[in-house]
Amino acid sequence: MLEEFIAGEERTLVALCDGEHALALPLARDYKSLHDDGAGPNTGGMGAVCPAPVAGGPDAEQLCAAAIAPVLAKLQERGTPYCGFMYAGLMMKPGGGWAVLEYNCRLGDPEAQATLPLLDSSLAELLRAAAAGTLADMRPRWRDAAAVCVTLAAAGYPDAPRLGDEFALAPPPAGDGLLVFHAGTAPAQGRTDGFAVSGGRVLNVVGVAAQQAEARQKAYRHAAAIGLPGAQMRGDIGAES
Ligand code: GLY
Repeated sequence: MLEEFIAGEERTLVALCDGEHALALPLARDYKSLHDDGAGPNTGGMGAVCPAPVAGGPDAEQLCAAAIAPVLAKLQERGTPYCGFMYAGLMMKPGGGWAVLEYNCRLGDPEAQATLPLLDSSLAELLRAAAAGTLADMRPRWRDAAAVCVTLAAAGYPDAPRLGDEFALAPPPAGDGLLVFHAGTAPAQGRTDGFAVSGGRVLNVVGVAAQQAEARQKAYRHAAAIGLPGAQMRGDIGAES
């Protein structure tokens, strides 16, 4: 099969849908390749930043109106209204314009880890409104802050992740703007303070701060201190301003 090669910068647009209305979340950016600067094999995502506006380009609401609302309207017209998160993977072309690469019926991973910590309203209320068909009445608040998520992947990921490596991990200090989300982890055998690698992408370390550069610094400092044997981590997540 031949596919068009589309160069550009990826953006992830996610909207919460109630069958009729779509509520756009802030744009996020995912970093798909294993190594810095787009080198190496494709992965599920080695990190994310949010918000990730497109300089001089459309905002999340405009992209939602163009890329998600028509799909939602068509699904409703067909008698199969969609309720839940709808994900549009977008490529912003260097000369302007954009393309949809994929749709998913879910949040992004790791985009969600960088997006939801910025939500300053109740997620439960939003989900209830989506289920009840009342999203049009919702005006969620978002923190005026930035979040950077750095993913720690197992040695050998993505081809042959090495499973079973054990490591200790304490929760980050509360109030420091740091979050650690587990992904490919399981309790370590025979000890209470540790975990074992059980999947390719092991941990997501998220820094939240007023500015992206500070959020990035927090995430990287904490990620570097985690003693995950053979961990793979990109060094350029959120490096653009
Ligand atoms: N990070 C890409 C995805 O969730 O599909």
